[in-house]
Amino acid sequence: MRKADVIIVGSGIAALQLANTLNNQLHVIIITKSNKESSNSSMAQGGISAAISPQDHIMKHYQDTLEAGRWHHNEKEVHRLVKEGKEIVEDIIQKGLPVDRTESGELSLGMEGAHSVERIVHSGGDATGRFVIQHLLKTLPSNVEIIENETVISLLQEQKSDRCIGVVTKNKRDRTMNYFAPNIVLATGGAGRFYSFTSNHHTISGDGLAMAYLAGAQLTDLEFVQFHPTLLFVNGETKGLVSEAVRGAGGILTNQFGQKIMRHKHPMKDLAPRHIVAHEIFKERAKGNDVYLDISSIVDFTKKFPTITKMCEEQGISIKDGLIPVAPGSHFLMGGVVVNSVGETCIQGLYAIGEVACTGVHGSNRLASNSLLEGLVYGKRLGNYLNEREHHRTFLIPKKLKDLPAIADYPINQHEFRLNMMKAVGVIREKDRLITHLNWLNDINRESLGKVSIEEKTVEGIHSYFMWIIGKLMTESALLRSESRGGHIRLDHPDEKKSWCQKRIVHRKVNGEMKVTFDEQLKIKSHA
Ligand code: SIN
Repeated sequence: MRKADVIIVGSGIAALQLANTLNNQLHVIIITKSNKESSNSSMAQGGISAAISPQDHIMKHYQDTLEAGRWHHNEKEVHRLVKEGKEIVEDIIQKGLPVDRTESGELSLGMEGAHSVERIVHSGGDATGRFVIQHLLKTLPSNVEIIENETVISLLQEQKSDRCIGVVTKNKRDRTMNYFAPNIVLATGGAGRFYSFTSNHHTISGDGLAMAYLAGAQLTDLEFVQFHPTLLFVNGETKGLVSEAVRGAGGILTNQFGQKIMRHKHPMKDLAPRHIVAHEIFKERAKGNDVYLDISSIVDFTKKFPTITKMCEEQGISIKDGLIPVAPGSHFLMGGVVVNSVGETCIQGLYAIGEVACTGVHGSNRLASNSLLEGLVYGKRLGNYLNEREHHRTFLIPKKLKDLPAIADYPINQHEFRLNMMKAVGVIREKDRLITHLNWLNDINRESLGKVSIEEKTVEGIHSYFMWIIGKLMTESALLRSESRGGHIRLDHPDEKKSWCQKRIVHRKVNGEMKVTFDEQLKIKSHA
């Protein structure tokens, strides 16, 4: 058993920014299921959006964010994101984050879809995430300890009050370990691994969402999944992201006949919002055509995009040919654990930051390069908040692990689950397919649940269980939202409906039962 003041689950940008902000007197433990350099954040290519150019203004960034997310946001939070984001990005550059500059030494700002001006700060061409993570790891103070290759499998709650007081982990040899702290922070990312085509790191399996839900927290906006239009597509599989920055630099989507597929589809053509581009690619592929990103007009491609060049070469795609085969795949979950502006959930002692959280900054479709920004802003906000509080490392009695829900070892076949999620809860959705998928998930429940305690499970068995729970909630939400908004298109409800604007579908476990409600004004009261 170990004790700390703050335990952070996950090691992406939000986690490291929080750890860098927390007071040096606090003992902080970061627990990550793989190694500290492996995360979705590390893989981010595009960059960090911030209104730092003289031609820009935070209100332009604010407007672009609202427009991309179809006005389903918490507008106060969006304002915080762009305002504090600008200051934080300026500060991190000043503190030594290496960023790309023009020959004259000005910041080189990139362009991405749905931005009205060039505002993407980037590093190493298309290796921004890796540079930011390395920078944040380098600046970590000595009060921060990182534990690698341990998977957090459950939250520990106090017997009487439900307050969150610790976590249970499993290591590679399935040995369990308990950690206790008065502050437990989920920074576990979203649910990319739920889909057969994804840009996400293989560790992103909805763990934080499932653990928060099982502990009694609220989850919302789970139907809003963003599909990135251009993942490298080789031999029927997606192999990684081909950044939107490539289209920002002049890349054009074509089919095998050289026809430009976005030409008459949207005024912003190849830089239209992601769901529109993804939908057009989907339609083109449904006609039996292949889709390519034509990069022949981009001067110095290999210099500007070294990560993508390397990835293509590893997959046998020659950059010299000027055509990169692409297909859409899951990229980002806009919904998550409901939190307030500092990351508090409705459970005392439990916080969430980054993609696992839903602050309302992304609405129903995240603006490109706003996710690294979110990690920096909300990591810092929570750090400042915790620094102002007193922390008592009193030892509270947790509920016994055997009182945690029993689960079956492999409630789902993960391969089948991913294919079904892609078909039913992908960019294109419709009622009958959603119902069939939901019935399939519910039948698994009847057949195989209630077998053994979570402690006896293998880590993969626990992942399957988490995916099953959250997959069900995502499918239910997708079915309930009878409109097309943001990241997806409902064929049976093709329009955005006024009656659905700002209406949130909220899931919460009440007395062991899954409960769904609708809410327009989600508020988490501070526990301070
Ligand atoms: C990209 O580089 O295309 C992805 C950036 C993002 O998702 O914000």
